[in-house]
Amino acid sequence: MSKIKGTVASIDLGTTKICVCIGRLGGNDIEILGTGWHPSTGLKRGVVANLSETAKSVKACLEQAESEAQTVVESAYISVGGTYLRGVNTSGEVDVRGRGNCVFSEDIKRAVAEADPKEIPEGYEILHKLTQDFSLDGHGGIDEPIGMTGNRLAVKMHVILNASAVIQNIANTINQVNVVVDGVVMQQLASAEAVLTQDEKELGTVLVDIGGGTTDISVYKRGSIWHSEVLPMGGALITKDLAIGLRAPLQDAEEIKKSLGTVFPTEVPDEEIIEIREMGTDRQRVISRRLVCQIIEARSDEILKSVKNVLGKAKVRPELISGVVLTGGGSLLNGLREKAQDTLGVEVRLGYPINFRTRKEEILNPGYATALGLVRYAKDIHQDPSERPAWSGLRKIKAWLMEKI
Ligand SMILES: Nc1ncnc2c1ncn2[C@@H]1O[C@H](COP(=O)(O)OP(=O)(O)OP(=O)(O)O)[C@@H](O)[C@H]1O
Ligand SMILES: [Mg+2]
Repeated sequence: MSKIKGTVASIDLGTTKICVCIGRLGGNDIEILGTGWHPSTGLKRGVVANLSETAKSVKACLEQAESEAQTVVESAYISVGGTYLRGVNTSGEVDVRGRGNCVFSEDIKRAVAEADPKEIPEGYEILHKLTQDFSLDGHGGIDEPIGMTGNRLAVKMHVILNASAVIQNIANTINQVNVVVDGVVMQQLASAEAVLTQDEKELGTVLVDIGGGTTDISVYKRGSIWHSEVLPMGGALITKDLAIGLRAPLQDAEEIKKSLGTVFPTEVPDEEIIEIREMGTDRQRVISRRLVCQIIEARSDEILKSVKNVLGKAKVRPELISGVVLTGGGSLLNGLREKAQDTLGVEVRLGYPINFRTRKEEILNPGYATALGLVRYAKDIHQDPSERPAWSGLRKIKAWLMEKI
């Protein structure tokens, strides 16, 4: 088998599942030629904790995707999650040195370099530099300053830092399966590419990716990220609560959560009962379904209230955003969208991947948002330079990323 020209691969290293997508670029839509899925046992809260276990799962996924797409994966974009990710807002300002005080790309490079965080904690490095806004002589709101005239050029940026060891361990894992790392991308940045519309990013939207191990929050405004945060809680915690509370095996608790769980226990008839296996035995027990849903509600409430706290701290005013988009597998919990709407006081929709062509409808699912979004992210890099803005926020991170890896 040889590589089909124009294909790009992504690997989503999730806490509960590993996912590989192979896509073909071209046109507005992305055609997905092959996918692979495997339970993930080597990651804890989004971070590789067991390298060889993770590599084994990645290999299994790659084989599935390659065989479906009839191509080989030589290199791939990889997602990174976990609470080591830190987003900080920075700014930089420089004199315009271009001829006739006209801004050249050199001026932008200097301004962006000036906006590097002054102090990077030991063991951390810059993963992404996302431009928010340029201003010239104090006049802000400029997306593309090249060719404009002024004396002082300033830039506001959202910089993502991550622990170097986390990135290195991802590279080590991917090296074990003989794939070259094209880039490492913060998971919610990739998910946004799959589920948010450009209008939502422009008007102001909060993306909440509820995964198994973490809940990742990004605040978009005027096309850029203004705040990002990772909470150390996700769907797996709800499953764990159920397993402990019901003294049932984790796998059974997971099944019950998905098939019979809801975050609105009062809507469950009092007398409704379900059968569940007892931990460590084959005995079945009978329990109240309402009790199950009360446990689910308690943890879901905690997650949503934590999201609300983050938005409060980031000064995100409900009236200034078009809404919240929930994605990630955890967003599929029955009633969560409605509960989020009540808790956050804004319009909430579920984020399903959009503008992908595939014969496997089941992958157009919030759990695949990161893997599919990574392919779109890659598309932007591979796009013909004449078709893209000279200095779009996204392209900058990518250019920077390419330099680094
Ligand atoms: N239908 C469903 N109802 C409720 N929960 C669901 C459903 N489908 C998936 N989940 C939950 O979604 C979580 C997995 O989501 P996802 O696949 O986005 O996580 P991940 O990418 O592996 O983890 P992370 O992003 O945190 O590293 C699990 O906790 C799972 O129980
Ligand atoms: Mg995930």
